[in-house]
Amino acid sequence: MKKMTDDIERVLATKEELDAVIEKMGKILTEEYAGRNPLILCILKGAAPFASNLFLQIDCPAEMDFLQVSSYGCGITSNGFTLKKDIDTDIKGRDVIIVDDILDSGNTLLKLRNYLMERQPKSLKLCVLFDKPLRRESPIQADYVGLVMPDEFIVGYGLDYAESYRNLPYVGVLKPEIYTGKS
Ligand code: IMP
Ligand code: MG
Repeated sequence: MKKMTDDIERVLATKEELDAVIEKMGKILTEEYAGRNPLILCILKGAAPFASNLFLQIDCPAEMDFLQVSSYGCGITSNGFTLKKDIDTDIKGRDVIIVDDILDSGNTLLKLRNYLMERQPKSLKLCVLFDKPLRRESPIQADYVGLVMPDEFIVGYGLDYAESYRNLPYVGVLKPEIYTGKS
């Protein structure tokens, strides 16, 4: 039987490495947000594994809500910003942390950040598990970054290719034949 692992050419970060990185990020957020009841804003679907793990590493009162935007379809190119699910929480006067899987071109997150700023949060920070700085098109940086990644299409730990591979417990590069359809 074919396993997801068979489609991976190279592992870029193991589950153990990711756990350690997220534990460290949780410690930093615990110190910075003590006494502030931050709202963790998980960007569906890709950030779900990361945000869940990170949330459990924050040792101070915190809340979580979910928002879904669409940027990629079933392929690997970006096509702008559409809000598919909005948050229920009123963020006016709140300390909000946008938690996303990866900062790539930055086009989606820049638009999302501007959109959320209109609701007047007390503070709005951006926290991503992965950063691909070489791919940046929009002027945006993350306040908290787990790991910097090369300019390659990666999958796992929430990141998908055509909705698959999100449940891979590590992050890696797909074999080219998977997305070119050749073998
Ligand atoms: P951006 O607007 O180009 O920064 O797009 C960010 C979104 O694109 C992320 O939240 C991911 O869903 C998706 N994305 C960007 N790079 C990758 C990748 O290497 N693998 C899988 N999804 C990616
Ligand atoms: Mg995403």
